[in-house]
Amino acid sequence: MRPVVEPLFSAEVIRERIDALAATIASRLEPDAVVVTLLTGAFIFAADLARALANHGATPTLDFMILSSYGHRTESSGEITVRLECAADLNDRQVLLVDDILDSGTTLDHASCLIRARGARELMTCVLLDKPARRALPIEADFVGFQVPNLFVVGYGIDFNQMFRELPFVGAIRTP
Ligand code: IMP
Ligand code: MG
Repeated sequence: MRPVVEPLFSAEVIRERIDALAATIASRLEPDAVVVTLLTGAFIFAADLARALANHGATPTLDFMILSSYGHRTESSGEITVRLECAADLNDRQVLLVDDILDSGTTLDHASCLIRARGARELMTCVLLDKPARRALPIEADFVGFQVPNLFVVGYGIDFNQMFRELPFVGAIRTP
């Protein structure tokens, strides 16, 4: 059965928050910065963030990476492989790494290491959602859309078993 989703952040609230984030980020981005987004969960966030950055005068290159962890994923397994490496030359560039959710921190930590290994001069990180209660590594994002409690969230690109990515808002799966 398809689970019930309780709305947390409306499309309008998300739009306003992303505009504010983009204003801050744009003031710190160099003209040849690269925005590297982790797919698939952050694809809608990245698309809206990119356009908001443009509205605030930023001119980043946009690129993407796919990381996957073994096994079925409602929890991070901790083991991560690279399924798609980003194509841009990161050497000596300023990079903004974008993900949907910062949870245990494993994914952002791993992606940060990969980007530094590719020669990025400066790395900043941005996540739509931060679940600090679940952190297993000492890592924080430089830019956070919203903090969320320890709920399973979906929508706005984020899935539960590939469902709910299409929702225009962020909600939490209702637990019985
Ligand atoms: P971490 O590696 O534990 O920080 O997990 C980050 C990744 O786990 C995110 O990019 C999501 O893909 C996934 N994730 C963590 N929490 C949730 C959730 O509540 N809903 C859907 N995916 C989640
Ligand atoms: Mg993810």
